[in-house]
Amino acid sequence: MDREKKGNKGNKKYKIFILHGPNLNFLGRRSKKHYGKRTYEQFNSELKKKALELNVDIEIRQTNSEGEMIDYLQNSDDRFDAAVVNPGAYTHYSYALRDCIESLSIPVIEVHLSNIYRREDFRRKSVTAPASYGQISGFGIDSYMLGLEAALNLLKKGMNKNEKTLED
Ligand code: DQA
Repeated sequence: MDREKKGNKGNKKYKIFILHGPNLNFLGRRSKKHYGKRTYEQFNSELKKKALELNVDIEIRQTNSEGEMIDYLQNSDDRFDAAVVNPGAYTHYSYALRDCIESLSIPVIEVHLSNIYRREDFRRKSVTAPASYGQISGFGIDSYMLGLEAALNLLKKGMNKNEKTLED
């Protein structure tokens, strides 16, 4: 596939949206065992450093509200090339968020700090993951770092926006 023509040149600066869901603004205050001791501000500074290293533009948002998550994601579809999203507890029951993710043309990488599959029963199901491109769970802040790298790799390989499939 001719990537040059498609505008996916190796040096294109991609834009990736990072969305933290409910209670993630309480990082550093809520269960450190599951979510680590970095504060929300420290966490985001590390993400910004990583973005510089990867040469991607990122925008970071957080909301505690389900509707606002949907608004943010819908608005990101025309402005970003991919999104890294931690839906927090909405992961486990928000069909509205799932439908939203499904309707986006950009790939969404779902990330979780903790490994949701080895915690309480109610966390073991993600209703949003099947609508997402992929999921990374259990690596603390590295889940987000890996999410950024995965999103970037997809884009560099020529992610087809509509089909959400790799072209190579
Ligand atoms: C979380 C896991 C969810 O079960 C929980 O409700 C969160 C954080 C994580 O990052 O591990 O708020 O998404």
